[in-house]
Amino acid sequence: MKVLEIHGSTGDSTILVGGSLRDLGTYISAEEVVIITDINVRRSYLKDFPPYEVIEIGAGEEIKNLDTVQAIYGRLVELEAGRSSFIVGIGGGIACDITGFVASTYLRGVRFGFVSSTLLSQVDASVGGKNSVNFRGYKNIVGVFNQPEFVICDMNLLRTLPEREIACGFAEVVKHAAIGDRDLFSYLEQHYEKALELDLEVIERLVYDSLVIKSSIVNRDEREKGERRKLNFGHTFGHAIEKTTGIPHGEAVSAGMVVASALSAKRGYLSVEGTKRIEGLLKKLKLPTRLRLNGGEVVDALRKDKKRAGDSIHFVLLHDIGSAVIEEISIEELEAVVHDLC
Ligand code: GLY
Repeated sequence: MKVLEIHGSTGDSTILVGGSLRDLGTYISAEEVVIITDINVRRSYLKDFPPYEVIEIGAGEEIKNLDTVQAIYGRLVELEAGRSSFIVGIGGGIACDITGFVASTYLRGVRFGFVSSTLLSQVDASVGGKNSVNFRGYKNIVGVFNQPEFVICDMNLLRTLPEREIACGFAEVVKHAAIGDRDLFSYLEQHYEKALELDLEVIERLVYDSLVIKSSIVNRDEREKGERRKLNFGHTFGHAIEKTTGIPHGEAVSAGMVVASALSAKRGYLSVEGTKRIEGLLKKLKLPTRLRLNGGEVVDALRKDKKRAGDSIHFVLLHDIGSAVIEEISIEELEAVVHDLC
């Protein structure tokens, strides 16, 4: 097991890469513990849960909203959960986001931690202290920054994931490599077959190296005033694609990274060879790179991007594989890119 630390404004967060759900009890020093988990994770792994109360939620992006949050508050009240209670989210990005939001607001905040069960949440969503839900069609627009005390990344939980879900996690690994680690990018190019087979050694390295990049960025800029924006590489178009097509987040980010790479090349930063390597790696990892899109809908979604500041968006471009830069790009220029694409 490898350990990383995030030192957040709300507290420290210990990331345990290669930790185990079965050891969960050893990381919690509290008398009352409540688990929040989704229906699928509960079905597959209940036998490995310590004997705590369990609140079950549904699965899928559509349950990541204030209705689910309200239902959980109701159960916590029924269970008489108090200030000294500890809440653990066991699941992917959705279960962890909801758990973090609930724990940060119930009784003005109780202690919490995560057991992260999908590749996407292990390499990205469950780490870094963003806890948000969707509201009226706006993704992650209601939320708080608050660090979980721990995140256990248990590689054994990845074995039951569908192939498509695993591929979505690889999109965020490619993102981390593209913005901050050219060696990780080359390693993934060389070992993508073993990665797809979920070879333990390869997967653990991919998760750890991704989180080295993410945790160091979050340690420098927890509240996303500057450098943390780099973690949104591929996400401006990705979120617009996700919203308009309904495809999973990782797939949309994959296509979004291809657009952002093309824009980086158009601006004279990234070489054409660099754009080809990025698209080639995404394809090898069974991710979509080019999609049929409705230009009007994509433009509308870009205009509603929560990261928009006036007429422009902080957009992440690549100077090279492993080196990212943030630039303000006007909505007009992004619209022109969409019109070229569609
Ligand atoms: N997923 C991007 C971030 O945590 O900032």
